[in-house]
Amino acid sequence: MSRLVVVSNRVAGARPAKSGSEGGLAVAVRAALRERGGIWFGWSGKVLARDYDVPNVAEVGRITYATVDLTQRDYDEYYKGFANSTLWPLFHYRLDLTEFAHRTWAGYQRVNSLFAHRLHPLLRDTDVIWVHDYHFALFAERLRSAGCKQKMGFFLHIPWPALQVFTALPMHRDIVKALCAFDLIGFQTKEDLSCFQDYIRREAGGEVGRNGTIKAFGRVLRAGTFPIGIDTEDFAKMAAESGESKQVHRLKQSLQARDLIIGVDRLDYSKGLINRVEAFEQLLTSYPENRGKVVFLQINPPSRSDVADYIEIRRDLEATAGRVNGTFAEYDWVPIRYLNKSFSRRVLAGFFRSSRVGLVTPLRDGMNLVAKEFVAAQSSKDPGVLVLSRFAGAARELDGALVVNPYDVEGVAERLQEALTMPLKARRERWRSMYRAIVENDVTAWRENFLLALQRGSRVH
Ligand code: UDP
Ligand code: G6P
Repeated sequence: MSRLVVVSNRVAGARPAKSGSEGGLAVAVRAALRERGGIWFGWSGKVLARDYDVPNVAEVGRITYATVDLTQRDYDEYYKGFANSTLWPLFHYRLDLTEFAHRTWAGYQRVNSLFAHRLHPLLRDTDVIWVHDYHFALFAERLRSAGCKQKMGFFLHIPWPALQVFTALPMHRDIVKALCAFDLIGFQTKEDLSCFQDYIRREAGGEVGRNGTIKAFGRVLRAGTFPIGIDTEDFAKMAAESGESKQVHRLKQSLQARDLIIGVDRLDYSKGLINRVEAFEQLLTSYPENRGKVVFLQINPPSRSDVADYIEIRRDLEATAGRVNGTFAEYDWVPIRYLNKSFSRRVLAGFFRSSRVGLVTPLRDGMNLVAKEFVAAQSSKDPGVLVLSRFAGAARELDGALVVNPYDVEGVAERLQEALTMPLKARRERWRSMYRAIVENDVTAWRENFLLALQRGSRVH
């Protein structure tokens, strides 16, 4: 079996412990690498005055971590700048928040080249290289121009936007041309894939053929969908064991038999947090019988807290949650418990299992692993209900969820009421079909499907 080399900006465990959650990419890649082993190459999470030529290398179990520090300038232009102030908002359909600057684009190109240059000496000819996410769209092109001939795949964890949105990016052509240096490009959903194919046909003058073949920019490659999964059975096991946990015990005691609605997300404007709080407010207004009886626990570890739009969303969310609590709280009941800190997945598994409703309402999301984790954590005897945005990739697979439009605050409130009052039989039926789907397409299946398609050319969808 050839050696697997994974490249991603965020490397699990590499970031300083006190910061927030690592996000879905790190969670999934760690699970994928843990079984198969290999090299995980990316950013150390450190910003230093100067960079070093050689990556820091550490072995933990079957994974060899090779990480590189960023200089302040690289961090500002590449990570904070082009990755998180241009690509992230644009790919999440937030043109209004998207910044366009030649300086940050230059920084993005520089860091892609620099990281490719750092990885190059570690590579063997027989390696298979799997690059993740929007930070490193130019990576294969950079490695190829250094003479690398290995199989290279790219997986995008976030949505690929519609043609008219994507082409607002002045350098759209450079990005897609560079992506075409990969052998395989993976997307989360059919919509993402078809937006990409649309670009290839209509903008790049390329061709889309059978079995995912793309011909463009003088290259032949493939593109397909590989919806990402979770470590379903392990997560379900953690949840089942959570009765023992101190935190779960304290949570249940504090609820005093009230129903719990839970939301867990990095504090990001793409997650629809304001609309979500407003929907909960609407629930208390339209269905006053829930007052004093339901608690909404919203866990939002801060993320990218030095990017201006993240500072703003945090302020707005605090104000909205504060207003709702001010309006409805009683001396013995506070409707919203709003937390700006992260928890381990083990603790979250227990919190999910203790909840009647999982509320996942992003305005756009590549997949949303939290939705799948909520389902995995439920007890088959008395499962909770998932209320899920139609704009999360997960809505394509989780057919037992109550699917909502997060912009429709009143509609979400109605579905919340339906979830809170749903009879056991209906809850079990809905949960069973979702659980089956996430067992079948777990993180191992995701990794295997992608790598089989990359290495052996197996069919893509
Ligand atoms: N997560 C965590 N601790 C937290 C909050 C989130 O470990 O306090 C994990 C969560 O369990 C999930 C991931 O972070 O595995 C978030 O992935 P998701 O796809 O939902 O969103 P992303 O952050 O990638 O946008
Ligand atoms: C999302 C992105 C990942 C990113 C994560 C956390 O999941 O798809 O690429 O790692 O958010 O964000 P951060 O900027 O802290 O790495």
